[in-house]
Amino acid sequence: MNYLEALSKRYSVKKFNSEIIPQETLQNILQSGKLAASSLGLQPYKILVVESEEMKKKLIPAFYNPSQVSTCSHLIVIISKRSINENYINGYFNHISEVRNVTVESLDPFKNNIHHHINEKNDEEIFNWAEKQSYIVLANLMYAAAIENIDTCPMEGFRQDVIEEILNIDPEAEKVTVTLALGYRSGEDSFQHMKKVRKPDDKLFKFI
Ligand SMILES: Cc1cc2nc3c(=O)[nH]c(=O)nc-3n(C[C@H](O)[C@H](O)[C@H](O)COP(=O)(O)O)c2cc1C
Repeated sequence: MNYLEALSKRYSVKKFNSEIIPQETLQNILQSGKLAASSLGLQPYKILVVESEEMKKKLIPAFYNPSQVSTCSHLIVIISKRSINENYINGYFNHISEVRNVTVESLDPFKNNIHHHINEKNDEEIFNWAEKQSYIVLANLMYAAAIENIDTCPMEGFRQDVIEEILNIDPEAEKVTVTLALGYRSGEDSFQHMKKVRKPDDKLFKFI
Protein backbone atom coordinates (compact mmCIF):
# COMPACT_ATOMS: atom_id res chain seq x y z
CA MET A 1 0.00 0.00 0.00
CA ASN A 2 1.18 3.50 -0.82
CA TYR A 3 2.09 5.36 2.40
CA LEU A 4 -0.36 8.21 1.82
CA GLU A 5 -3.13 5.70 1.20
CA ALA A 6 -2.19 3.91 4.42
CA LEU A 7 -2.18 7.15 6.41
CA SER A 8 -5.49 8.29 4.92
CA LYS A 9 -7.08 4.97 5.78
CA ARG A 10 -5.78 5.22 9.35
CA TYR A 11 -8.11 6.71 11.92
CA SER A 12 -8.28 6.53 15.69
CA VAL A 13 -10.40 3.43 16.22
CA LYS A 14 -12.98 3.57 19.00
CA LYS A 15 -14.00 -0.08 18.79
CA PHE A 16 -12.04 -3.08 17.50
CA ASN A 17 -13.46 -6.47 16.52
CA SER A 18 -11.34 -8.44 19.07
CA GLU A 19 -9.43 -10.39 16.38
CA ILE A 20 -5.80 -11.09 17.29
CA ILE A 21 -2.96 -9.77 15.10
CA PRO A 22 -0.62 -12.47 13.71
CA GLN A 23 2.70 -12.64 15.64
CA GLU A 24 4.81 -11.84 12.58
CA THR A 25 2.85 -8.67 11.82
CA LEU A 26 3.05 -7.62 15.46
CA GLN A 27 6.81 -8.19 15.46
CA ASN A 28 7.23 -6.03 12.33
CA ILE A 29 5.31 -3.21 13.96
CA LEU A 30 7.35 -3.50 17.17
CA GLN A 31 10.59 -3.38 15.19
CA SER A 32 9.49 -0.03 13.76
CA GLY A 33 9.24 1.23 17.34
CA LYS A 34 12.70 -0.13 18.05
CA LEU A 35 14.06 1.67 14.99
CA ALA A 36 12.67 5.05 16.08
CA ALA A 37 15.19 7.86 16.19
CA SER A 38 15.91 9.23 19.67
CA SER A 39 17.90 12.22 20.85
CA LEU A 40 21.54 11.15 21.38
CA GLY A 41 20.37 7.57 20.73
CA LEU A 42 19.56 7.17 24.42
CA GLN A 43 16.07 5.68 23.97
CA PRO A 44 14.86 6.99 27.37
CA TYR A 45 11.79 4.77 27.33
CA LYS A 46 10.46 1.25 27.66
CA ILE A 47 7.75 -0.37 25.54
CA LEU A 48 5.31 -2.75 27.24
CA VAL A 49 3.27 -5.01 25.00
CA VAL A 50 0.10 -6.16 26.71
CA GLU A 51 -1.03 -9.38 25.04
CA SER A 52 -2.70 -11.41 27.78
CA GLU A 53 -6.47 -11.17 28.01
CA GLU A 54 -6.11 -11.13 31.76
CA MET A 55 -3.90 -8.02 31.77
CA LYS A 56 -6.06 -6.25 29.15
CA LYS A 57 -9.07 -6.85 31.41
CA LYS A 58 -7.20 -5.60 34.46
CA LEU A 59 -6.37 -2.37 32.61
CA ILE A 60 -9.95 -1.54 31.60
CA PRO A 61 -10.69 0.58 34.72
CA ALA A 62 -7.59 2.68 34.02
CA PHE A 63 -9.13 4.13 30.83
CA TYR A 64 -11.78 6.88 30.68
CA ASN A 65 -13.20 5.20 27.59
CA PRO A 66 -12.64 1.45 27.90
CA SER A 67 -14.02 0.46 24.48
CA GLN A 68 -10.59 0.25 22.80
CA VAL A 69 -8.85 -1.73 25.56
CA SER A 70 -11.71 -4.17 25.87
CA THR A 71 -11.73 -4.99 22.14
CA CYS A 72 -8.14 -4.56 20.91
CA SER A 73 -5.71 -7.32 20.01
CA HIS A 74 -2.71 -5.77 21.82
CA LEU A 75 -2.12 -2.68 23.89
CA ILE A 76 1.26 -1.00 23.73
CA VAL A 77 2.26 1.15 26.69
CA ILE A 78 5.16 3.57 26.24
CA ILE A 79 6.91 4.42 29.49
CA SER A 80 9.32 7.37 29.78
CA LYS A 81 12.26 7.60 32.14
CA ARG A 82 12.23 10.43 34.64
CA SER A 83 16.01 10.68 34.88
CA ILE A 84 19.20 9.48 33.21
CA ASN A 85 21.99 8.41 35.55
CA GLU A 86 25.63 7.46 35.09
CA ASN A 87 24.83 3.74 35.01
CA TYR A 88 22.36 4.22 32.18
CA ILE A 89 24.90 6.19 30.12
CA ASN A 90 27.63 3.62 30.80
CA GLY A 91 25.28 0.82 29.73
CA TYR A 92 24.60 2.68 26.49
CA PHE A 93 28.32 3.05 25.72
CA ASN A 94 29.08 -0.59 26.52
CA HIS A 95 26.33 -1.52 24.10
CA ILE A 96 27.67 0.70 21.30
CA SER A 97 31.13 -0.74 21.90
CA GLU A 98 29.82 -4.31 21.55
CA VAL A 99 27.59 -3.69 18.54
CA ARG A 100 30.14 -1.67 16.58
CA ASN A 101 33.19 -3.56 17.85
CA VAL A 102 35.04 -0.47 19.01
CA THR A 103 36.65 0.31 22.38
CA VAL A 104 34.61 2.22 24.94
CA GLU A 105 37.51 4.71 25.20
CA SER A 106 37.24 5.59 21.51
CA LEU A 107 33.72 6.79 22.25
CA ASP A 108 34.85 9.29 24.91
CA PRO A 109 34.22 12.44 22.81
CA PHE A 110 30.60 11.34 22.23
CA LYS A 111 30.25 10.34 25.87
CA ASN A 112 31.49 13.77 27.03
CA ASN A 113 28.99 15.38 24.69
CA ILE A 114 26.17 13.32 26.21
CA HIS A 115 27.26 14.20 29.75
CA HIS A 116 27.28 17.84 28.77
CA HIS A 117 23.72 17.65 27.37
CA ILE A 118 22.37 15.66 30.31
CA ASN A 119 24.13 17.66 33.03
CA GLU A 120 22.85 21.00 31.78
CA LYS A 121 19.23 19.83 32.28
CA ASN A 122 17.36 19.50 35.56
CA ASP A 123 15.17 16.44 36.23
CA GLU A 124 12.04 18.11 34.89
CA GLU A 125 13.79 19.04 31.65
CA ILE A 126 15.18 15.52 31.30
CA PHE A 127 11.73 14.10 31.78
CA ASN A 128 10.12 16.49 29.23
CA TRP A 129 12.86 15.58 26.79
CA ALA A 130 12.32 11.84 27.43
CA GLU A 131 8.60 12.10 26.82
CA LYS A 132 9.17 13.76 23.44
CA GLN A 133 11.23 10.73 22.41
CA SER A 134 8.35 8.46 23.41
CA TYR A 135 6.04 10.19 20.95
CA ILE A 136 8.47 9.47 18.11
CA VAL A 137 8.12 5.78 18.98
CA LEU A 138 4.35 6.19 18.98
CA ALA A 139 4.39 7.78 15.51
CA ASN A 140 6.63 5.04 14.10
CA LEU A 141 4.37 2.30 15.51
CA MET A 142 1.22 3.93 14.15
CA TYR A 143 2.76 4.45 10.75
CA ALA A 144 4.06 0.89 10.50
CA ALA A 145 0.72 -0.48 11.66
CA ALA A 146 -1.10 1.50 8.96
CA ILE A 147 1.23 0.06 6.31
CA GLU A 148 0.62 -3.44 7.74
CA ASN A 149 -3.16 -2.86 7.51
CA ILE A 150 -3.48 -2.91 11.28
CA ASP A 151 -5.75 -0.37 12.93
CA THR A 152 -4.74 1.63 15.99
CA CYS A 153 -5.85 4.17 18.55
CA PRO A 154 -3.30 6.31 20.38
CA MET A 155 -4.56 7.07 23.89
CA GLU A 156 -3.60 9.47 26.63
CA GLY A 157 -7.04 9.21 28.18
CA PHE A 158 -6.12 7.07 31.19
CA ARG A 159 -5.91 7.56 34.92
CA GLN A 160 -2.21 7.97 35.56
CA ASP A 161 -2.10 6.55 39.08
CA VAL A 162 -4.36 3.61 38.24
CA ILE A 163 -2.48 2.46 35.12
CA GLU A 164 0.88 2.80 36.89
CA GLU A 165 -0.29 0.80 39.87
CA ILE A 166 -1.65 -2.01 37.70
CA LEU A 167 1.55 -2.15 35.66
CA ASN A 168 3.75 -1.92 38.73
CA ILE A 169 5.51 1.24 37.54
CA ASP A 170 7.57 3.19 40.07
CA PRO A 171 6.20 6.73 39.57
CA GLU A 172 9.40 8.24 40.98
CA ALA A 173 11.46 6.66 38.22
CA GLU A 174 9.12 6.36 35.24
CA LYS A 175 5.85 7.59 33.79
CA VAL A 176 3.33 6.00 31.45
CA THR A 177 3.32 8.61 28.68
CA VAL A 178 1.00 7.21 26.04
CA THR A 179 -0.64 3.97 24.98
CA LEU A 180 -1.51 2.49 21.60
CA ALA A 181 -4.28 -0.02 21.04
CA LEU A 182 -3.81 -2.28 18.01
CA GLY A 183 -6.24 -4.53 16.21
CA TYR A 184 -8.87 -4.54 13.50
CA ARG A 185 -11.65 -1.96 13.31
CA SER A 186 -15.14 -3.16 14.15
CA GLY A 187 -17.79 -2.74 11.44
CA GLU A 188 -19.85 -1.04 14.17
CA ASP A 189 -17.33 1.76 14.68
CA SER A 190 -19.01 4.74 13.01
CA PHE A 191 -15.81 6.83 13.21
CA GLN A 192 -14.37 4.96 10.23
CA HIS A 193 -16.89 6.69 7.94
CA MET A 194 -16.11 10.22 9.09
CA LYS A 195 -14.13 12.56 6.89
CA LYS A 196 -10.70 13.57 8.15
CA VAL A 197 -10.60 17.04 9.69
CA ARG A 198 -7.25 18.68 9.08
CA LYS A 199 -6.11 22.29 8.63
CA PRO A 200 -6.05 23.29 4.96
CA ASP A 201 -2.56 23.31 3.41
CA ASP A 202 -2.35 27.11 3.34
CA LYS A 203 -2.95 27.27 7.10
CA LEU A 204 -0.64 24.39 7.93
CA PHE A 205 2.34 24.83 5.62
CA LYS A 206 4.34 27.96 5.06
CA PHE A 207 6.98 27.96 2.36
CA ILE A 208 9.70 30.45 3.00
C1 LIG B 1 -1.04 11.60 21.72
C2 LIG B 1 -2.47 11.30 21.36
C3 LIG B 1 -3.37 10.95 22.35
C4 LIG B 1 -4.70 10.62 22.02
N1 LIG B 1 -5.54 10.19 23.01
C5 LIG B 1 -6.76 9.69 22.65
C6 LIG B 1 -7.59 9.04 23.61
O1 LIG B 1 -7.26 8.95 24.79
N2 LIG B 1 -8.77 8.51 23.19
C7 LIG B 1 -9.17 8.58 21.88
O2 LIG B 1 -10.25 8.07 21.55
N3 LIG B 1 -8.41 9.19 20.94
C8 LIG B 1 -7.20 9.73 21.29
N4 LIG B 1 -6.40 10.30 20.35
C9 LIG B 1 -6.86 10.35 18.94
C10 LIG B 1 -7.12 11.77 18.45
O3 LIG B 1 -8.31 12.26 19.00
C11 LIG B 1 -7.17 11.72 16.92
O4 LIG B 1 -5.89 11.37 16.45
C12 LIG B 1 -7.58 13.04 16.25
O5 LIG B 1 -8.87 13.42 16.64
C13 LIG B 1 -7.53 12.92 14.73
O6 LIG B 1 -8.36 11.87 14.29
P1 LIG B 1 -7.81 10.59 13.50
O7 LIG B 1 -6.64 10.04 14.29
O8 LIG B 1 -8.97 9.65 13.51
O9 LIG B 1 -7.40 11.02 12.13
C14 LIG B 1 -5.10 10.69 20.67
C15 LIG B 1 -4.18 11.05 19.67
C16 LIG B 1 -2.87 11.34 20.01
C17 LIG B 1 -1.89 11.67 18.92
